Amino acid sequence: MVIDRLRVVVNLDNLVHNFKLLKALNNNQEVMAVVKADAYGHGAIECSKHLEANGCKFFAVTVLKEAIELRNAGIKSPILIFGKTDPLNFEYLEQYDLIQTIDSFDYAEKLNHQTTKKIKVHLNVDTGMSRLGIYCHEESDMENVVKDIVSIKELNKIDLCGIYTHFASSDADLDFTHKQKTIFTKLLSLLANERIDYGLVHLANSSGIVRLDNLENFMARSGIALYGYPPVKTEEKFLPVMELFAKVIAIHQIKENDSVSYGRTFVATKPTKVATVAIGYADGYMRILSNNDYFYYQSHKLPVIGRVCMGLTMVDITGTNIDIGCEVEVFGSNKSLVDMALRAQTITYELLTNMAKPRVDRVYLNKENS
Ligand SMILES: Cc1ncc(COP(=O)(O)O)c(C=O)c1O
Repeated sequence: MVIDRLRVVVNLDNLVHNFKLLKALNNNQEVMAVVKADAYGHGAIECSKHLEANGCKFFAVTVLKEAIELRNAGIKSPILIFGKTDPLNFEYLEQYDLIQTIDSFDYAEKLNHQTTKKIKVHLNVDTGMSRLGIYCHEESDMENVVKDIVSIKELNKIDLCGIYTHFASSDADLDFTHKQKTIFTKLLSLLANERIDYGLVHLANSSGIVRLDNLENFMARSGIALYGYPPVKTEEKFLPVMELFAKVIAIHQIKENDSVSYGRTFVATKPTKVATVAIGYADGYMRILSNNDYFYYQSHKLPVIGRVCMGLTMVDITGTNIDIGCEVEVFGSNKSLVDMALRAQTITYELLTNMAKPRVDRVYLNKENS
């Protein structure tokens, strides 16, 4: 079927480039590809297959369903679930050979009770995020944590094969990030002194990889930089993986004082040529961008006029030769996603994950098909 509205173009070569760059920045230690939320809107199956074929050895998702999708698509590498699988679904961890994050002895015990085979788990240590993980914000919390880990290790169907923590503010507050790292590494030393085997260690996220020098040869987990948008300034050449194009489906010549779209928030001050573009908030193009963004066509900057609708957005194309069927760039090589995120009062993460919609078509580019 021909794409009749909009297409997300995903450049798989850029994805592999970013992966290799992240690995180099992480002292050549492994980098786990975070492919939750359909690989931040890029398509988890395609991206994971391509990364796996190019040396990626570890994947992470939030939900069981995402992990099962990857296994069913043929991903053989370990897959870690960051979230908490409902105990009623524990059987699938076993069936699909997945790694479950645990955050407490209680959760591990439930898992131990309900599984028939040994289940692999990684322990999330909360060193400052206060979201998920076993609480360990200060050295004084460590005694309890070690006690819990000892108890977890005694559970006969639990295979504790990894441990990690997650930075709360590695894009902004390096002091706090160092504090988290210090607590975490002290806990690891304590466990090592007690001869408690905790398996694999993973630590930094994208901004941590880019900003921290001494990552102690731990594995890292990266999402946003893998897709080309490190959330901090860097000289490193990350390449954006996604571009978004939408088709012009109607063109109108309007007169001075004619209004455009719901609520009549745009009123023409002069005769204006208006193109209706097949993208709207149901496609992930946020309504807050009404009268507050632009698309690109060749060298023309096309201001968004009036309110963004559910599946349509109007732009001013006065002075251009744009015709019905032309594709305009919503973001990509001419129009910065970072700039768009500022206009939308959000972050690139949200704009990208907005593209994880079944009605949005994706086209994958790589050396083999370009
Ligand atoms: C536990 C965990 N690790 C790593 C990541 C990847 O973060 P980033 O996309 O900033 O690299 C996330 C994403 O939010 C996460 O939740």
